[in-house]
Amino acid sequence: MGVRFLSLLAALFSATTCADDYSDYGGLPVNFNREDNDPSLLTLSGRISHNYFRPFGIQGCPSACDCPIQWLNAIYCDNRDLGHVPFTLPRRTRYLYVQGNRIQHLPAAIFSNTTELKWLVLDRNEIGNEAIGNGVFSSLSQLENLYMNHNNLTEVPTLLPGSLKDLRLAHNRITNLSSEPFRDLVNLTILLLQGNQLSAIDGNQMKGLKSIVHLDLSNNHLAEFPENLPVTIQQLYCSRNALGSLPPGCFAQFERLLYLRLGHNSLDSDRLARDVFNVSSLIELDLGYNNFTSVPLVHQNLRYLYIEANRIDEFNVTSFCRRVSPVDYSQMRILRLDGNKLTYNQLPSDWIWCLRIIAQIYI
Ligand SMILES: *[C@@H]1O[C@H](CO)[C@@H](O)[C@H](O)[C@H]1NC(C)=O
Ligand SMILES: *[C@@H]1O[C@H](CO)[C@@H](O)[C@H](O)[C@H]1NC(C)=O
Ligand SMILES: *[C@@H]1O[C@H](CO)[C@@H](O)[C@H](O)[C@H]1NC(C)=O
Ligand SMILES: *[C@@H]1O[C@H](CO)[C@@H](O)[C@H](O)[C@H]1NC(C)=O
Ligand SMILES: *[C@@H]1O[C@H](CO)[C@@H](O)[C@H](O)[C@H]1NC(C)=O
Ligand SMILES: *[C@@H]1O[C@H](CO)[C@@H](O)[C@H](O)[C@H]1NC(C)=O
Ligand SMILES: *[C@@H]1O[C@H](CO)[C@@H](O)[C@H](O)[C@H]1NC(C)=O
Repeated sequence: MGVRFLSLLAALFSATTCADDYSDYGGLPVNFNREDNDPSLLTLSGRISHNYFRPFGIQGCPSACDCPIQWLNAIYCDNRDLGHVPFTLPRRTRYLYVQGNRIQHLPAAIFSNTTELKWLVLDRNEIGNEAIGNGVFSSLSQLENLYMNHNNLTEVPTLLPGSLKDLRLAHNRITNLSSEPFRDLVNLTILLLQGNQLSAIDGNQMKGLKSIVHLDLSNNHLAEFPENLPVTIQQLYCSRNALGSLPPGCFAQFERLLYLRLGHNSLDSDRLARDVFNVSSLIELDLGYNNFTSVPLVHQNLRYLYIEANRIDEFNVTSFCRRVSPVDYSQMRILRLDGNKLTYNQLPSDWIWCLRIIAQIYI
């Protein structure tokens, strides 16, 4: 039994099957709380012997789902062509995994008996806003993770509980935001909205998000950088939009910003303020696949700059170092300049004094 249990655990925690698109959960790694014994989100089908499901006829396990014995609060109903969320879920349910079905509706009372839900994963269904019962989430006062990636949402659902920490709505058809859904989400740290159809965002709409750390707005239709976004953000992803310029000083308010991704836009050196990327907190800056003709000025603290595939034909050390001295030099570790109009011979002889701890430079 001991050996069998060990091999069961090994199967559960092996990560070999989670790299495909069908389990990307919005593309951001899922944060399990091991102390809380969060159950694996990976499907159980084909990974665990059926002997481990409901072997003692665990009370109330919906017939369409699997309830593994070691996680009594977890119900796995993923990837099985369900047309609706099972009715009569056991009250003890804390983890409900219903991704990869063809669910279109969420009746208002469907979660009325499962008020202890902490994780609700509804990725890859066909749920649209009009088919979400009024207040279906509002009584879930312990819900922390709500995933609705790859559905048919056109708006952010409303009446979300203030307990949410991780809200993933990537790859829907959301065209507009409003402040209403975000008003009470004071503990939300992750918000994924990439792969939607947002063309304009007023950052004031996110004013309620007092704890937000990670905001992904990539792969939308933004032509202007959203102003007044919450200042707590540390990871801001706006790749694959239609940004041609940025308002001067638009990153100055983010004192904790670490990772900024703006690749695959149309940013153009001539239309940007000289010091817009001079942000002392930044560690990584992605400006690849834009329209830069020169390397913008960056702060000496920056460690990773990706500015490949632009139209850069000049390299000036002052982009990285305003002064060079034994104590003044760039922290740059990796610099990608490949796919531009530069050659290695164009680097001025003094570059190595400024970029003195660089590990890799691609030209
Ligand atoms: C909730 O519990 C009540 C009482 O046991 C039951 O009548 C009702 O059908 C349950 N609702 C759901 C959605 O399971
Ligand atoms: C959801 O969207 C998909 C593709 O966008 C479409 O084929 C499907 O009919 C939609 N389902 C509903 C219920 O609107
Ligand atoms: C936010 O988190 C704090 C600390 O964990 C908790 O005390 C508070 O109740 C949470 N707020 C809501 C609305 O759940
Ligand atoms: C929603 O977005 C569309 C297109 O971006 C815009 O034309 C429309 O005015 C917006 N509606 C609201 C209510 O903001
Ligand atoms: C880049 O700049 C050139 C010259 O101004 C312009 O013709 C081209 O359309 C721009 N490309 C993009 C993707 O904005
Ligand atoms: C860059 O920012 C620093 C503060 O971190 C400031 O002292 C410096 O003057 C700025 N440089 C330029 C060229 O704007
Ligand atoms: C580099 O930039 C500085 C400041 O913009 C300028 O004074 C200097 O002439 C430039 N050097 C070269 C070689 O272009």
